[in-house]
Amino acid sequence: MAPIRVRLSRQSTFEGILILLRTQTCGGLRAEHVGQVVTLCGWVDTYRDHSGVLFADLRDRYGKTQVVFTPERGDETLQQSKSLRSEDVILVRGEVAHRPEGTVNSKLDTGAIELRVRHLEILNKSAPPPFQPGTSELPGEDLRLKYRYIDLRRQKMQQTLLLRHRIVKTMRDYFDEQQFIEVETPMLGRSTPEGARDYLVPSRVVQGHFYALPQSPQLYKQILMVAGYDRYIQVARCFRDEDLRADRQPEFTQLDMEMSFVTADDIIGMIDGLMAVLAKNVLGIELKLPLPRMTYDEAMERFGHDAPDLRFGMELIDATDLAKEAEFRVFRETADSGNRVRGMNAKGAAARYSRKDIDELTAFIVENFGAKGLAWFKVEEGGSLASPIAKNFSPELLAKISQRMGAEPGDFLLFVADKFEVTCKALYALRKRLAVDLKLYDPNVMNFSWVVEFPMFARDEEEDCWAAMHHPFTAPRPQDLAMLTTDPGKCRAVAYDLVINGYEAGGGTIRIHDQGIQQHVFDLLGIDRETAKERFGFLLDALQFGAPPHGGIALGIDRVVMLFGKLDNIRDVIAFPKTQRATDMMTGAPGEVDAKQLRELSIKVNKP
Ligand code: AMO
Ligand code: AMP
Repeated sequence: MAPIRVRLSRQSTFEGILILLRTQTCGGLRAEHVGQVVTLCGWVDTYRDHSGVLFADLRDRYGKTQVVFTPERGDETLQQSKSLRSEDVILVRGEVAHRPEGTVNSKLDTGAIELRVRHLEILNKSAPPPFQPGTSELPGEDLRLKYRYIDLRRQKMQQTLLLRHRIVKTMRDYFDEQQFIEVETPMLGRSTPEGARDYLVPSRVVQGHFYALPQSPQLYKQILMVAGYDRYIQVARCFRDEDLRADRQPEFTQLDMEMSFVTADDIIGMIDGLMAVLAKNVLGIELKLPLPRMTYDEAMERFGHDAPDLRFGMELIDATDLAKEAEFRVFRETADSGNRVRGMNAKGAAARYSRKDIDELTAFIVENFGAKGLAWFKVEEGGSLASPIAKNFSPELLAKISQRMGAEPGDFLLFVADKFEVTCKALYALRKRLAVDLKLYDPNVMNFSWVVEFPMFARDEEEDCWAAMHHPFTAPRPQDLAMLTTDPGKCRAVAYDLVINGYEAGGGTIRIHDQGIQQHVFDLLGIDRETAKERFGFLLDALQFGAPPHGGIALGIDRVVMLFGKLDNIRDVIAFPKTQRATDMMTGAPGEVDAKQLRELSIKVNKP
């Protein structure tokens, strides 16, 4: 099919006549254009007055061009140019000229030329901006978010939004080639349990009833599989009212996908392929496929976390068996009671951590992760282990510990004795913190991997019941099916998470396509029949009408862009993000509404 060319209308370009449209952008002029008469539009980035000649940098999203106002073009234009201020929007028409010898700016694409202005039009004056888009010292984030339109003029923001556009386009093109179709699913729907609080929208028509904004399109995409749509994707908005962090927004975007008649390998392979294309198109690197996989159990054992950062080593090492031999009570009693003593070896880091630093590390894990302390040893020149607690270990045992930890002179060994979960949390956090301190990885390297075979359920101690580790529609491994009845805690799911640089970038599962098993899982989760019928009845119904085996995954697009863009804050990849308090600094949302609106909804607000 021949591409359809659209011709854009262009206003008169005769000299002297009011010219409404530009002929070029501020990033496009080169030496080869010298001599041409062109029209540019843009924002005044900077301006300087040099003994009667005014220089300005004119900026748009394509770049910057130096424009020059000289007396020989008539006093009127020059006079007019003297009133120019930062962020004024102007139109200039003039001749492209070589910059004089010695003033060429090789750092700028347009640095060989300048525009000698014959005609200036001030399209709109700007009030003094709260900060300059060109500033190298960024103002506080509150100011950036309040005046987001100024912030979005910054080159870095423009590059990031362009990167986001490229990534999303690459994703859509990739899936299009693989016969996926994009289907939009409702925003106003029923609550889908993804583990967060819902955002609710009151219905005016059915008073006292509420829509829930989707936490994900999970149920709709499963229904689409039942409907035979076999390969679905959607760039989907999701809404979750949860505690926000640097990698979480209340409103975020997923690349959501679902496939029928597949195994986990097919889904993983499809995403492997996507990552390879993204890495190639965006970063110019070749990814080796298949991406490595490890099980959830292995990830917890080796890294203490289900999204391990594999850009560096310093893995966790178990020493529970050795701890049983220790006179040091904390170790021995922990090991004897069936809990764990685990540690890690920070190679060559002994000299880096003073007593005061170690006290800080201890406080860090005690206060944040419920650890009871931090046991440590420094490996001395001769190989012996030095520590205030060393006297509580026999020399033989110290030698065994050394060997287990692969200790060499200058190493720093750290141990936590506790319940498995606490050792995971504390050592995971220490590993991350020490890796930054010790610069254990190159921030420019990207690492991709999969964690698979998650537990079906996690124990919710507070409610004393099982909770779905991913969501309640996740299928158990066929070989674990019987354990749904006998030992749910041991039951593993056909679940997989994509991990990039220690972040969970995506997660998915093979789904339950059997109504009986789905009902069984609801039972285990303590969702009573009545509630299940009321909330998910449509899914249970659909599963009765020829549901194919199916599965899928969702990637967090914001996180993927953040990681590919080497950024550390998700707000920087979203045009109009929310603050930690889920507010929009620019529009002031959430805001109050009219009394009339509330009346129509039969809602009465009790102000705190
Ligand atoms: P899950 O809840 O794991 O799975 O979400 C998928 C991915 O979405 C991203 N993500 C977020 N990004 C920004 N802010 C948030 N608050 C946020 N929450 C999640 C993460 C995560 O890996 N329906 C299932 C997918 C499936 O089973 O197919 C789901 O939503 O990168
Ligand atoms: P204590 O016997 O409480 O004075 O502790 C001696 C040392 O062991 C201190 O450095 C503590 O931080 C450390 N420690 C105490 N409890 C634990 C634990 N559960 N795991 C690791 N180290 C611990």
